[in-house]
Amino acid sequence: MSFSLHSPFVSIGHFHCHNHQNHISPPSTTTTTTTLASPPYLFQQRRETRSVLTLSSESMEICGVDSEGKEFNSVQEMWREEIGEEGDETRKTQWYRDGVSYWEGVEASVDGVLGGYGHVNDADIIGSEVFLKTLLQERLVNVGPNQHLVALDCGSGIGRITKNLLIRYFNEVDLLEPVAQFLDAARENLASAGSKTHKATNFFCVPLQEFTPAAGRYDVIWVQWCIGHLTDNDFVSFFNCAKGCLKPGGFFVVKENLAKKGFVLDKEDHSITRSDPYFKQLFRQCGLHLYRTKDQKGLPQELFAVKMYALTVDTPPKIHRTRSKTTSNRPQIIK
Ligand SMILES: C[S@@+](CC[C@H](N)C(=O)[O-])C[C@H]1O[C@@H](n2cnc3c(N)ncnc32)[C@H](O)[C@@H]1O
Repeated sequence: MSFSLHSPFVSIGHFHCHNHQNHISPPSTTTTTTTLASPPYLFQQRRETRSVLTLSSESMEICGVDSEGKEFNSVQEMWREEIGEEGDETRKTQWYRDGVSYWEGVEASVDGVLGGYGHVNDADIIGSEVFLKTLLQERLVNVGPNQHLVALDCGSGIGRITKNLLIRYFNEVDLLEPVAQFLDAARENLASAGSKTHKATNFFCVPLQEFTPAAGRYDVIWVQWCIGHLTDNDFVSFFNCAKGCLKPGGFFVVKENLAKKGFVLDKEDHSITRSDPYFKQLFRQCGLHLYRTKDQKGLPQELFAVKMYALTVDTPPKIHRTRSKTTSNRPQIIK
């Protein structure tokens, strides 16, 4: 990947949006029931077993721009142009193929998967570790010393995150990556990493939109710098399915580039960079609870801002504040 403006990591300037209705409408009330394929790893069956959630056209009035400067008045307009009308499986398949082809032409190295910004690896890992540690302490409180923790590294590339972070905290890490040469490199990179009790277990050569993870296997599903390859419908569909793969108390971490506004379509690697409100809208459509967020610090100025989202399936119990008996039913001074 180059340092050009087309690099998936490089932010492009402001764009003027003609759509005066550039807002996000209230969360959709659509709910879906997802049936999981019971035997694990039935990748090919995912499309049939997973319910399809269609985003209503009104719910996504977000405008954006592509890496060649073209403006779109809505995400619908952009998706129509990129993947055709809904149900046009040929165009959609081509979108995914083009995305994978892009990465097949990239060197299987840290610098390669980070678009020439290999030097941000340390800052990225440190930021992730601080975030992950807090979450593990808060969420997995009942975990004893002998608890067996398992993570899934989505769009793992060459196993950079697993090797530098996940393998130290989880007893098993599974990697999912559609580019075979990256997954081969990950296997090699991880061969000497970890230990008997902390190891990379499964290497799935499959894209996210076709993956059906094993039910109830994971404490953490880590999704970093890859979800931009998924269309909105497949994004929602993936999380809906993956919810069932979390253990009780488990959570997702999504760490992604943020567009300042709306979205930025990358014509080179066939991905989109979404804005924070766009992500939040999709998370709501997935029925996920936004448990905690954190901005990644210390990245070069020319790059997109990066945010970490921790998402849970459960909502934390509401604290009902009742006024104490001593103060509620007696005269009080009006302040
Ligand atoms: C910018 S690299 C990030 C790799 C890794 N997450 C990291 O941070 O080191 C993007 C990765 O997404 C993968 N990818 C592309 N299309 C994908 C898809 N449809 N599903 C899952 N991963 C995909 C690419 O092959 C590539 O490994």
